[in-house]
Amino acid sequence: ETETEDFVIDDEVVKNIFKPRNEFSHKGTYGKVTIAAGSYGKMGAAVLATRSALKTGTGLTFTLAPKCGYEILQTENPEAMFIEGGSDVIDHIEIDESSVCGVGPGLGTDEETVKAFLKFLKDYSKPLILDADALNIIAQDKKNIKLIPEKSIITPHPKEFERLFGATENSFERLELAKNKAKELQIYIVLKDHHTQIINPEGKVFYNITGNSGLAKGGSGDILTGVLTSFLAQKYTEEEAAILGVWFHGRAAEFASEKHSREAVLPTDIIHEFGNVFTELN
Ligand code: APR
Ligand code: MG
Repeated sequence: ETETEDFVIDDEVVKNIFKPRNEFSHKGTYGKVTIAAGSYGKMGAAVLATRSALKTGTGLTFTLAPKCGYEILQTENPEAMFIEGGSDVIDHIEIDESSVCGVGPGLGTDEETVKAFLKFLKDYSKPLILDADALNIIAQDKKNIKLIPEKSIITPHPKEFERLFGATENSFERLELAKNKAKELQIYIVLKDHHTQIINPEGKVFYNITGNSGLAKGGSGDILTGVLTSFLAQKYTEEEAAILGVWFHGRAAEFASEKHSREAVLPTDIIHEFGNVFTELN
């Protein structure tokens, strides 16, 4: 066993990753995102993930969602385009290869959605951002885990991690298991927690120290998915997107909770602070 070095994501690390916008650019410079998310009663997750992609600089943003979300999504996020993926739940997923795709928020685990998502995974080979019910669907049958494309970024909270890879005694053992799985599957694992850890395919760990308990609310994870997908589409490497995205999400939460308190702050308020985080980076 060799000791691997662990890294704390500090301001210096993040400023070295961040690329300011080029004035001589157009929307094609900043990539395309497709967020595949939402189901009847959980359309808010799709709204938040999509809005987060829009507010982090993506060139073109699409939401693939069931038809019951059409008016909600077009009203809440007029800058994003809608792709119909079913009626009340997603039952087919087709994404053109030019998009970077984030899947999972509010997806649900309806039988039709499970079939559609697994079929999509079998045919798709580019890195994905996988969260929430995308991970819960994969966890239903351990054979599915091998379908995750290499270099994908998965964002489990502790319970989702346990469903995917099994229970551990404590957070130290969980991290060891995550290192082994990241190496075996050649993926990035974002272990979401108070101090989120990012594990790269070499088993190297990056600790995030931004964020606070204002994030302990439904919808916080959904906005992280949008941020990560957006940065990956803007041609940051998977590792850069994961580090910058997790740091950025937490930093925005700090700005927002200063204004609103940790109790009252909502994921929507956190998205509103994205501009202040960019101003700090620029
Ligand atoms: N301190 C710092 N960060 C925190 C804290 C805390 N005390 N609590 C939560 N966070 C951060 C996590 O690191 C993560 O980035 O907030 C985010 C929470 O993400 P999720 O646990 O996925 O929460 P949520 O957005 O509510 O998920 C919505 O998706 O995963 C499913 O079952 C989940 O139905 C729920 C839905
Ligand atoms: Mg979540």
